[in-house]
Amino acid sequence: MSVNSQNSNKGSLVCVGLGMILGSHLAPLSRNFIEQADVVFMSVTDPLTEKWIQKMNPNCQSLQKFYSDGKDRRTSYQQMVDTVLREVELGKQVVAAFYGHPGVFAWAPHKMIEVAKKNGYHSHMEPGISAEDCLYADMAIDPGINGAVHAEASQFMLYERKVDTTAYLILWQLGFVGDLSMSKYQTDSHYRLLLQQLLVHYYSTDHLVAIYESPTIPTETARIEWFPLEQLSQVHVEHFSTLVIPPFSSKKIDVDMLNKINQLSKNS
Ligand SMILES: C[S@@+](CC[C@H](N)C(=O)[O-])C[C@H]1O[C@@H](n2cnc3c(N)ncnc32)[C@H](O)[C@@H]1O
Repeated sequence: MSVNSQNSNKGSLVCVGLGMILGSHLAPLSRNFIEQADVVFMSVTDPLTEKWIQKMNPNCQSLQKFYSDGKDRRTSYQQMVDTVLREVELGKQVVAAFYGHPGVFAWAPHKMIEVAKKNGYHSHMEPGISAEDCLYADMAIDPGINGAVHAEASQFMLYERKVDTTAYLILWQLGFVGDLSMSKYQTDSHYRLLLQQLLVHYYSTDHLVAIYESPTIPTETARIEWFPLEQLSQVHVEHFSTLVIPPFSSKKIDVDMLNKINQLSKNS
């Protein structure tokens, strides 16, 4: 479809975040979008969450059918984008609902919005409570104190990154770290051993790190399992596990910058 300003009066797309905990994290505004939509697409794995969304709006369809073992997730994501946009182009008010925050480590929602906007449709994202938000709450971490760097675990391994050991390092998608085919939901301990070997260039082998798994139903509690870095390849991980590496060294003051700031303060 070509760019056409007339489209702004027709179909629309809102990508909303459902948060991590069933029934507890959905913002009133996002709920309203779901209830008012002509059609709701859902990208959630849990049947209970699907039922909950169906109660809010019976005109809903799952996007999970596009995933399958051994299938490149980039193909699945593109199919989701195409499916959702087809309805927008039919002039419908469309909502796509994703667990957590729809814009955090999630390619398809960003792409849907980008393409819809390019084609002249009203489109925007409503934030949700992500795994990151739950992690800060459950693990009592304030990223403002030492900083926190987030990276996708495979990407962290593959690219030459500068590691700031004075900040938290949080690695996502640990469960299938090293899967460059983007078609697996689990990789074995050999891949995690490679990550471990990379990390010990920066951290000591006995540095305590944690697996974090946020609860997804209100009655569950978080899994926060601490262990020395040298055991990373042996711990049990799920596709929804996140690795938390606390700071290893102290922040050092940049004396030159401090002097410049003090000089400015004196003059102002
Ligand atoms: C494709 S990302 C989706 C993140 C999601 N959009 C969000 O807002 O949290 C999947 C990764 O998120 C993290 N994740 C998902 N569910 C989690 C949970 N229950 N606890 C901790 N981390 C989780 C894991 O690192 C997982 O591999």
